[in-house]
Amino acid sequence: MKAITFVTQKGGSGKSTLCISLAVAAQEAGHTVCILEMDRQATISDWLDHRSAEGPEVAQIDVSRIDAVMECLRASAYDYVFIDTPGVDSAGTLAAIRAADLCIIPCRPTPADLRAFKPTLAAIYRLEKTFAFVLNQTPPRSYRIRDAADGLAVLGILPDVNIVARTDHQDAIGLGQGVTEFNPKGQAAGEVRRLWSWIERRMKAGKSLRDVGRRVMKHAEAA
Ligand SMILES: Nc1ncnc2c1ncn2[C@@H]1O[C@H](COP(=O)(O)OP(=O)(O)O)[C@@H](O)[C@H]1O
Ligand SMILES: [Mg+2]
Repeated sequence: MKAITFVTQKGGSGKSTLCISLAVAAQEAGHTVCILEMDRQATISDWLDHRSAEGPEVAQIDVSRIDAVMECLRASAYDYVFIDTPGVDSAGTLAAIRAADLCIIPCRPTPADLRAFKPTLAAIYRLEKTFAFVLNQTPPRSYRIRDAADGLAVLGILPDVNIVARTDHQDAIGLGQGVTEFNPKGQAAGEVRRLWSWIERRMKAGKSLRDVGRRVMKHAEAA
């Protein structure tokens, strides 16, 4: 069992949306998946209320239970556990980072979002966790973003695909679906499948990125 935690202080960056659509994409790729919801905003429970398809299983958990829940899950048959966190720096968020094999930091390409991930990155770095950024809600084509992104891609902390702002994401969640179920042939679905396959490869590679973390932290502090 591998745990993937979606984390960043910034609300609205796409933690819950990506958590859901990637969980569905992972399930479509043949994995057994469970989602742990730690956010009281309950975006995922609300999504589940509208869902008619089977799986992934969803459990709402309180921070006080995460260690016990993770211990059970580690002995379970799930291939992946996806953890959605609230957009605040809390004990729950720290526990979710600690439980992760990989932390995903969704980030919109705005100065406010780019500034907001610093404390998250610091916590991930302190806990010596592997992480990756995902640029979300990007314009369809932006050479400026791609230029900046290429440097991070080389470090293995940025996927080779950005998630473009597309209404499919909003419509899918509203109907209790992942974006790959809502419009399987759409561009949003294609991007999410590519992102999942990058994450899967990234997790298999599993090399320590402590050194990369240190370099990124230095860069973030200087910015
Ligand atoms: N790639 C995307 N394209 C369009 N809308 C998006 C995308 N990602 C997220 N959204 C929308 O942005 C809003 C915030 O996303 P959400 O996943 O709830 O963020 P968070 O969980 O980080 O607070 C939601 O209304 C969601 O539908
Ligand atoms: Mg959320």
